[in-house]
Amino acid sequence: PGAPAATPGLPGPVVYAHRGASAYAPENTLAAVDAAVRLGFDWVENDVQRTRDGELVVIHDDTLARTTDAEEVFPGRAPWRVRDFTAEEISRLDAGSWFGASFAGARVPTLREYLARVQRNRQRLLLEIKKPELYPGIEDQTLRVLEEEGWLDTAHVQRRLVVQSFSADCIRLVHGLRPDVVTAFLGTPPVADLPAYAAFTDRINPWHTTISADWVAAVHGLVGAHGKALEVDTWIVDDAVTARKVRDMGVDGIISNAPDVVQRAVQEA
Ligand code: G3P
Ligand code: CA
Repeated sequence: PGAPAATPGLPGPVVYAHRGASAYAPENTLAAVDAAVRLGFDWVENDVQRTRDGELVVIHDDTLARTTDAEEVFPGRAPWRVRDFTAEEISRLDAGSWFGASFAGARVPTLREYLARVQRNRQRLLLEIKKPELYPGIEDQTLRVLEEEGWLDTAHVQRRLVVQSFSADCIRLVHGLRPDVVTAFLGTPPVADLPAYAAFTDRINPWHTTISADWVAAVHGLVGAHGKALEVDTWIVDDAVTARKVRDMGVDGIISNAPDVVQRAVQEA
């Protein structure tokens, strides 16, 4: 394990649909998962957080304000933190209208609902544990849900799942709990620090503005937690010029809201 294979037939870096194909459908909804598969992308990225009553849900911000109608449905509950609402309350929210009227009624999915859709579509998942410091025990809980939903069998851990976080502690913990799961650290560690990361992760996923060809080569020069060269998936690249620039730096993957734009670009010279 360790290396997400590119979508069959598509050369160049693996292209991931960030928060689903979120340029075309509301981020982190099942509609965005479906938009990705319609465009031909099997890897989708998401963000996992936890409700007040302990349900894992898929949403990026730690408040509901930007991507749902929580301010209208629950006036007086500012600042509408995800962790202050129950799963039932969140299930009543519209997570699509802010993006476009045709998406009215899209919901904030639970992680279980999200996994079922990705599975149904025969897609693969780059799962981000978002702000783990807010949610003690979320690593263990996420792995438990993945296991219960059939995502930790050999086929899934070898080919269909990567768990990532901006928190090194989180990724170290995930690796310790389930050493078979492929992980990625979100960030750009200095070259001198990379060996420490290689002990517990397989991939280093940096913001595209922070990298150079030399840095990517340094990452590739190290062996990751599963005995293969560390790989690099960079984010968030939505335009052709930047896509070709990071491709030419040698990245292994590109995480994009507009994966079709990036895929077209990286296939060109
Ligand atoms: O997958 C990388 C990217 O999602 C990290 O940033 O803020 O979009 O979660 P963010
Ligand atoms: Ca993310």
